[in-house]
Amino acid sequence: MTRESTYRVRSPGRVNLIGEHTDYTGGYVMPFATDLHTELEAAPSAAVEVASDAVETRYTFETDTLEPDDDWIDYIKGCYAILQDEGYDPGGFTGQLSATLPLGSGLSSSASLELAVMAFLNDAYDLGLSRERMARLSQRVENEYVGMSCGIMDQFAVALGRDDHALMIDTETLEYESVPIPEGIRVVVFHTGVSRELVDSAYNQRRETVESALEKLGAESSKVVSEEDLEDLPALERERLGFVVRENERVEQAKAALSDGNLERFGGLLLEAHRDIAEHYEASCAELDYVVETAVEEGAYGARLTGAGWGGAAIAVVDEDEAASFAESLTAAYREEFPDLEPATHLVTPSAGVRVERLD
Ligand code: GLA
Repeated sequence: MTRESTYRVRSPGRVNLIGEHTDYTGGYVMPFATDLHTELEAAPSAAVEVASDAVETRYTFETDTLEPDDDWIDYIKGCYAILQDEGYDPGGFTGQLSATLPLGSGLSSSASLELAVMAFLNDAYDLGLSRERMARLSQRVENEYVGMSCGIMDQFAVALGRDDHALMIDTETLEYESVPIPEGIRVVVFHTGVSRELVDSAYNQRRETVESALEKLGAESSKVVSEEDLEDLPALERERLGFVVRENERVEQAKAALSDGNLERFGGLLLEAHRDIAEHYEASCAELDYVVETAVEEGAYGARLTGAGWGGAAIAVVDEDEAASFAESLTAAYREEFPDLEPATHLVTPSAGVRVERLD
């Protein structure tokens, strides 16, 4: 019976408040799931046939033929490949995708799609997967099928987000705590319009560098490393892991600042994190630096790049009643500075993780 039903899945994106490039070192992160989301409306069927409102391509494949296409469909094929590897064998579906979440702009549209599909298959084919497990399997889709060596942050936030809360996650143990976002503030996402084409190779390189440093130190996680431990490392490894170690500390401090409702302190930590990642992790770019510094001049409590960096989006934390005019004036200043780029802003709200609704 279940198999003939239609389902609607709403899968959020994620914004990371603080804790960047720490999740592949077993460090701390503090993201939230966004109200911007991907929607999948789907009904079980033998093969997979899926179309998307955002891109005019429609794909059909059999679930035992999973060659990558080098396109968005790989996030779906990858779900089947990893589930099959784990001994599950869900059938196909006929589905339509739509999204309010902008694609490829650093708000985890890929994790959002993976979790939409995982959650649908989990319900429609009774796979019995927990949210944590779906997050881990979706990370494997990226790592093993798509070839992006990402950590667990995006998939975890998309799977386990909570309304009006951020999640502070220990990415080594996956223990996490919900951190309430104080009332009266708004997170503005500012997309720079800078495409992130080269991100994967830079990202994978950073990961290799810090992993090599951790191995030399015999450390399982960046949380147990302090800055003094870094002295004997090669210069580049010292530089990169140094950022990660300081970033872990900032996540803990940012959680405390949020809990105390100390927005000045919280904002100050965001700005410090941005300057540190720009200088010592070299994951920023001129456009992101401009947005962050201008946002603070325009009255934001704090601002920083969010996600992998090298383009994509920045966040600014501002008073709620000023958010719309803040976004407008930041956009005007940015357009003047970078007339060839197409920026976009979104006022986002921390929201619940992926959810599935049965329509009949
Ligand atoms: C990307 C990855 C995440 C994380 C961030 C940087 O979004 O998918 O796992 O590493 O970059 O913090």
